[in-house]
Amino acid sequence: MRRWFTCRRHKPLYIALPILFILATYHIIASTYIITDIGYLARPLWDNVQEQWDIIQHYTTEGLSLERTCQLHGWSINNETKPKMIDAVIFSVELDLYEVRLRELWNVVDKFIILESNATFTGKPKPFVFADNAERFAFAKEKLVYARVNQQPLPPHEGPFYNEAAMRVAMNENIEKVANDGDFIIMSDVDEIPRASTLRTLKACSGVPSPLHLQLRNYIYSYEFPLDLNSWRARVERYSKGVTAYSHGQQSRNLLADAGWHCSFCFRTIKEFVFKMTSYSHADRVRGDQFLSKDHIQNVICTGQDIFGMYPEAYSYKELIAKWDGAPKSDSAVGLPKAVLEDDRFSFLLPGGCERQLE
Ligand SMILES: *[C@@H]1O[C@H](CO)[C@@H](O)[C@H](O)[C@H]1NC(C)=O
Ligand SMILES: *[C@@H]1O[C@H](CO)[C@@H](O)[C@H](O)[C@H]1NC(C)=O
Repeated sequence: MRRWFTCRRHKPLYIALPILFILATYHIIASTYIITDIGYLARPLWDNVQEQWDIIQHYTTEGLSLERTCQLHGWSINNETKPKMIDAVIFSVELDLYEVRLRELWNVVDKFIILESNATFTGKPKPFVFADNAERFAFAKEKLVYARVNQQPLPPHEGPFYNEAAMRVAMNENIEKVANDGDFIIMSDVDEIPRASTLRTLKACSGVPSPLHLQLRNYIYSYEFPLDLNSWRARVERYSKGVTAYSHGQQSRNLLADAGWHCSFCFRTIKEFVFKMTSYSHADRVRGDQFLSKDHIQNVICTGQDIFGMYPEAYSYKELIAKWDGAPKSDSAVGLPKAVLEDDRFSFLLPGGCERQLE
């Protein structure tokens, strides 16, 4: 009677323990991703991009006079000061998009500051890619301000933010060398390209708020796959010595609508995709080697699906459902950065150009 009783009490444990063990193991393996996945799926519940901004309506079209353009925005023509427009980027490897940027902004930007490090944000050694390709940018020499930073591998217990912060300090020193109070500083990543006519408007009008964030159209892999309008990090700020600090976060509520293009993962070769996937802050998203295979990468570039096999980033469930099967393909190349249409070398960024070379 007693034996039966003991047996009866322990039997569920024999079954439950292995199940618990399997569940725990699964949970540990999966949890790194589960947290991100749940974060993405729950995003519409906790995040609402609209609420953080006062959106400024934007008016620009070919041939419109600057007087009329300023007036439409509620600004007036600035016929007194002549501020410079200074573009400041931290460069890693994006040669093609940097050329597109340079050519788009050439007539409106006075100085292009490029800062390059011999380490990635994650502390791995990296060649000075821009310097190694200086000849390609010889046409722009008169406006380029190039600076290098030597960085060490990351100290123990430091994350990518450590190197990023050091780069910002170096960037501030370089901005100080070329900027005067009142000049416009564009702070953005290489792949966040403002529209030339937008910058021309900001330069020509007075009454433009500062700091001013730029709402950019988000694209993935090329300008064939428009995602949404949720890009806001690029900003333009009037320089004030000792006050202006280079950064990539929100600095005001002012967001100028539809002011350019943000093309993520817009690389020419499969090799560049692999480099980006493994060496930047996204590296932890690579869930297995199959995500780095040529076939997988080529397939997502042509279908608009997520390269890490993650759920879409969306701010409402309507948007989440719309993006579920990947980014929608667009047949329009209207109103894109000029160089992309001018030069066959950039046709991989256009609708129909998704086939990539290995290197
Ligand atoms: C600047 O323009 C405004 C209106 O367009 C005009 O009233 C003013 O006299 C101009 N100032 C100068 C210095 O030209
Ligand atoms: C960058 O260059 C400096 C100076 O040559 C060197 O000490 C440092 O180790 C390099 N950084 C990396 C990550 O290789």
